Amino acid sequence: LKSKSRELIRSVRSPSQAAVLGAGIMGGGIAYQSALKNVPIIMKDIAQQGLDLGLAEAGKLLGKQVDKGRMTDEQSERALANIQPALDYTGFDKVDIVVEAVVENPTVKKAVLAEVEAETADGAILTSNTSTISITDLASALKSPAHFCGMHFFNPVPVMPLVEVIRGKQSSDDTIAKTVAYATALGKIPIVVNDCPGFLVNRILFPYFGAFCQLIRDGVDFWEIDRVMEAFGWPMGPAYLLDVVGIDTAEHCMDVMAEGFPDRMKYDFRTVINFLYEKDDLGQKSGQGFYRYEAGKGGRPQ
Ligand code: 3HC
Repeated sequence: LKSKSRELIRSVRSPSQAAVLGAGIMGGGIAYQSALKNVPIIMKDIAQQGLDLGLAEAGKLLGKQVDKGRMTDEQSERALANIQPALDYTGFDKVDIVVEAVVENPTVKKAVLAEVEAETADGAILTSNTSTISITDLASALKSPAHFCGMHFFNPVPVMPLVEVIRGKQSSDDTIAKTVAYATALGKIPIVVNDCPGFLVNRILFPYFGAFCQLIRDGVDFWEIDRVMEAFGWPMGPAYLLDVVGIDTAEHCMDVMAEGFPDRMKYDFRTVINFLYEKDDLGQKSGQGFYRYEAGKGGRPQ
């Protein structure tokens, strides 16, 4: 970061009202983290069922904090009250920062971002939690691309400290500073990165997944690879991690990375990720990926 940007970051305050679009695994995790850190957040989804699941998950995570003696019941209830579920854009005119966390599809994301821009005040910051889609490309759907940047969380959001703040071609310094301030208020470690397929972390992670797919093709058992990588010291092996990330998300990221870096990431065979995706075995979220899970419950694979 240039020293001017550092000064700007120090001078901005964290937002007083946030919003997240999408109450899925990532959106729900972001809402929980914001509520925990006392930044009130509107959690908007298009389906009541999605909101119910997002709220139930946040309630469960807060309950765990109480069980571990880190919070009282009253504090937990107060934190939960920081999440305002919504099926429409009521209250978005008062929102300082929005994190879009809808399905990983550029057309859908662009439509949602254009819609929310029309509902927020001038100067509100819009961000996207995309894993790999170009921020500059998403910005093309907006009237004020300067107020937009990437804000990429990692799964599970409550546990993973890193957040990538992605500077699109037109993102202003003020937008970057305010997004960094929000990530810091959430207790995360923000890093500012430039816009390119996979940003920084997925440029490292997806070649690793690619190498894993090659080993599977060579006939090595995914279970053995996981055991080896866990013995090596990583918290989870690649197959389990892919189940956590979501096979659909991984499939999409692999495509974007292959297009962006054809010399490094192009596979001339159907990967095990393509195979699972076509079977609709999407990982933890669907109850079946490389491993079988109690649907919707997460946890270590059976
Ligand atoms: N949600 C919230 N909290 C969770 C959680 C979840 N899904 N899973 C575990 N935790 C918490 C536990 O409550 C516990 O918290 P505490 O220390 O405060 O009590 C802590 O995490 C450790 O949990 P456990 O002891 O039960 O489990 P593990 O030791 O097996 O750790 C893990 C679980 C933290 C998820 C660990 O396995 C890990 O770090 N895995 C790697 C995850 C990773 O690499 N994520 C990045 C994915 S890539 C991505 O998201 C980018 C995208 O663009 C593709």
